[in-house]
Formats: sequence, C-alpha cells, structure tokens
Amino acid sequence: MSVEETTSEVILTHPDNNKTFVKILKYGATVFSWSLNGQEQLWLSSAAKLDGSKPVRGGIPLVFPVFGKNQDDEDLSKLPQHGLARNSTWEFLGQVKANPPTVQFGLGPEIANPELSKLWPMDYSLILTVEMGSEHLKTHIEVSNTSSDQQLKFNWLFHTYLKIDDIEDTMVSNLSGTKLFDQMLQESYVDKQPVVTFHEELDRIYQKVEDDRLVQVIDKGHPVHTIKRHNLPDAVVWNPWVEKSKGMGDFEPKDGFKELVCVEPGYVHDFVKLQPGQSWEAYQLLYKDKLNYQVL
Ligand code: BG6
Repeated sequence: MSVEETTSEVILTHPDNNKTFVKILKYGATVFSWSLNGQEQLWLSSAAKLDGSKPVRGGIPLVFPVFGKNQDDEDLSKLPQHGLARNSTWEFLGQVKANPPTVQFGLGPEIANPELSKLWPMDYSLILTVEMGSEHLKTHIEVSNTSSDQQLKFNWLFHTYLKIDDIEDTMVSNLSGTKLFDQMLQESYVDKQPVVTFHEELDRIYQKVEDDRLVQVIDKGHPVHTIKRHNLPDAVVWNPWVEKSKGMGDFEPKDGFKELVCVEPGYVHDFVKLQPGQSWEAYQLLYKDKLNYQVL
C-alpha cells in the first residue's frame, strides 16, 4: 500500500521503490522525513517534538498567516512567530493520485488551534497537496478567502530544513544580484556575492526572486538540492550556527547546524491579499538537477 494513515501521521511510499518515502505529521501537516532511495533529504532535530506539543524543529513546517513576529498589523501582530498553521492539527483529506502518490491535508478556523484562532478570527481554507515522485517532492498550497465580506491578508512560507553534509562546504546559488533584508544586520542591500556561503549565523530574506531562478544547494561543487518555486517570490536562507542553536531547547545535537541549511520559499516581503471568494496557490518543488549556474 503506498499510503498509510496512523492516528498522528501519514506515510507515502513510492510504488516502484520502497526506499523512497515521505512521512507527514498531521500536526502542522509537517513533512518531517523525505527519504529518496534510502537517503534522507531533510534535517530533523533529534529533540524535535512530534507529539503536537510544539512546532516541529526540522522537516518542512508551514508558516501561515504571518512570517516572523509581526509588529505593525492590527490582527497579525497578535499571533506568535510564524503564525498558527504549524501549531494546528490538519485534517487528512486522503489520497488524490496513486502514482506519483499524492495526498491532501486541509485546515480552516473550525479545526485550527483554538487559542490562536481566537487571536486571528478570520475565515479561510487551506489545502496542502503533497506529491512524492521517484525523484521529487512537491508541496503545493491553495489558500481561499471563505469570508463573504472581509479581505484575507497573509504571508505564506515553506520553512524547509535541507540536510547537508557540512555547512562550511556548502553554497547556495542563483540568488546573486537580488535585494535582501538581512535579519542579522537589520538592513537591506543587494547581494553582490556570486554564491551564499556560511561562516556564522545567517538569516536573510531574499526578495522578489524571479520564478525562473532555480536555487541550488551545492556541496563541494556538486548540487545536492534544487528548489523550484512557483508564486513564491521570496526566499529566506537561514542557518542558526552555534549560539542560536544553543538557545533552542528542541535543537539537538547542538552541532546539528553543521548538517542543515534552511532555504524557505515564501511570500513574506509583502502580504497576499484576497478579496472574499478569491483563492491563491503556490508550490515548492525539491528535486535533483545538474549544476545550473544561472547568469542573470
Ligand atoms: C527563519 C527566520 O525563517 O525561522 C529566523 O528567518 C528564525 O529568524 C527561524 O529564527 C526559526 O524560527 P522558529 O520560530 O522556528 O524558532
């Protein structure tokens, strides 16, 4: 059977290769493991909570309706960092395709975390579609404004923790020439470096990155992850390094930052704004590709 449901998880196994599978926690509809022919692709903290007591530290947490901690918006500023989707138990809607195995999860205010919904009493419907091919993982989101009279204003982001061998041998490519907001320096500038490299905590929001820029994670010259984005103009690149990792209780081992890089496709610099009845969709596609250094 290619789709197995337990009380807390959904596991998809590829019909042609049982070493290719994905595990999704209903809490947060969080993909917390993606094995591609026996090789884990996502980083997961060994102290990550998978019992619904807090968002998962690793995998692909979903950020909605606000990225980070908002200070200005009357409604969104009441929510905790990264919103409510990653701390709500989603409904498993079932399998929609046999091959590639594809499943859907849904979230709306009627089932979302009640404490957080009280802080942000909006009408919306989210449908997450997870498609696992023999060589790719696609996560697609559709957000609908189900209100009859109110605008829906939100951020979206796939907070993807990619597994790597060694952060000091790793580069992230094809973001050069893009404007970014550096969360460490609290300032904006254009990245003039040909690639992103890592020597300390790095937390950058690359803005308005064209859809046709394929972001690649490169290990000693070899591309290990390729990320295609659709309708997600921003890309957050994050590595917590030593001190930040020490400060996160659910981050283990403490030197685990060496084996992860977060590349997070999102819509976070601006808000998506939907009028009553409107919908918006976007996806992230993770796959393997040859080195594709784009001159843009
Ligand atoms: C990243 C942010 O997306 O998420 C960082 O850019 C933040 O600033 C990180 O530290 C982790 O956030 P959290 O809430 O999961 O600890």
